[in-house]
Amino acid sequence: MHIVALAAQDDFDGWRRAARALVLIDAAPQQVLWQVDGDADLFGAPPAPLPPAPEGAFAVPRAFVDLASTAICHSDPERFSLLFALLRRLRDNPRQMEDSADPLLRRLDHMARSVRRDMHKMRAFLRFREVDGAEGARYVAWFEPEHHIVRANAGFFVRRFASMCWSILTPALSLHWDGEALSEGPGATKAEAPGSDLVEEVWKTYYASIFNPARVKVGAMLKEMPRKYWKNMPETALVRDLVAGAQKREREMVATSAAALAGDNAVRSWDSLRIEAMRCTRCKLHETAGRTVFGEGPLDARIVFVGEQPGDQEDLAGKPFVGPAGQLFDRALAEAGIDRSQCYVTNAVKHFKFERRGKRRIHEKPNGGEIAACRWWLEQELTLIRPQITVALGATAARSLFAKPVTVSAMRGEAQKMPDGREMWVTVHPSFLLRVHDRQAEEYALFVEDLRRIGRSAAERARAAAADPGG
Ligand code: URA
Repeated sequence: MHIVALAAQDDFDGWRRAARALVLIDAAPQQVLWQVDGDADLFGAPPAPLPPAPEGAFAVPRAFVDLASTAICHSDPERFSLLFALLRRLRDNPRQMEDSADPLLRRLDHMARSVRRDMHKMRAFLRFREVDGAEGARYVAWFEPEHHIVRANAGFFVRRFASMCWSILTPALSLHWDGEALSEGPGATKAEAPGSDLVEEVWKTYYASIFNPARVKVGAMLKEMPRKYWKNMPETALVRDLVAGAQKREREMVATSAAALAGDNAVRSWDSLRIEAMRCTRCKLHETAGRTVFGEGPLDARIVFVGEQPGDQEDLAGKPFVGPAGQLFDRALAEAGIDRSQCYVTNAVKHFKFERRGKRRIHEKPNGGEIAACRWWLEQELTLIRPQITVALGATAARSLFAKPVTVSAMRGEAQKMPDGREMWVTVHPSFLLRVHDRQAEEYALFVEDLRRIGRSAAERARAAAADPGG
């Protein structure tokens, strides 16, 4: 019997080293006992070192490494030996990974899928709570994963919340990030995690204000957000009451929505929306992009400008339209007599999509799926702000706002009246002006002219509203 002691439940490198050596000495799966350091030693003695492996090597397909490095995080204690059995078969038949009917492969595949699902749930449903620490604010979250995924998910949280100090507590392990380094600590209990705080209150306020009883689909909600995660998510404390009082609330909402979304409530709701957007995983961009760049500007703005997506400089600054296109936009706005500080400026897609070339990050257009996934955030921003005028800067923004592909040249320069009387405008994106070298001056003048029209329309609407405040 060979006993292998792995350093941790997710010790893929340790498993790989031992498994290779064991395959080379032709050990059978039933002759190997896999143990994790810290488990009770079944034999009362430390495991003996493996006999030296004979010279030799064998290659395994990349698909196996991907499968094994994921499935190793599964909570099933049999995973080590199942993976070892598959590895042995691969030595004799390198095409084993292609046999999708093979029960062993299917079982391991199923495990890997379950692990990936659990990782996604942790990213989507983990909620930080703010606590005061000696070094300032710290955000602490409690999460109970199904599998051993916490370490594998650490990189995601470091990238997403790089500038915050945070701790994630789980029963087996805790992670701590101080803004520069990640450290690990022992597992914790739920009692050690803070219960409720300001961020939570803000998020609840927001959730209550956007909750639309007319759209409740309980089945879909449960599928997306299984009940087991509800207890750690502040907003779910509201769901039962909100669903129960749906009809009453629907009537009240019609009467009070404008008032409820105004003032303080809107600021608090926008804050929680922005915080929530920082951990958005609605599309694949979050895996490679930098940070979420949310919109900014006054929440009672009459005009909202919507761009395509943040660029390199916006991603670094965390603010929309601050790079070259943003500077040109500022200049055109000033010439058209529009005060940017009175407008809300945002993007259709909140992550910078790029292709890396050496040290440079080259802009790549977002695709339809990414635009559709991110529309959720734009809709929330527009619901909170309720601008009189929304302006699409370029085709991506227009596609998001109209929920279909739109030809900018066919729509530009005229207000599109919405059924509720609000206006939607379409014009070119400022970066287009940076690309048309031969007729830049003419195109720039046309852009400023579009902005002037928009400014005039906003001013007329403001005058009409002042003359008829109840209208
Ligand atoms: N382009 C955009 O569409 N948005 C920005 O924020 C910057 C450049």
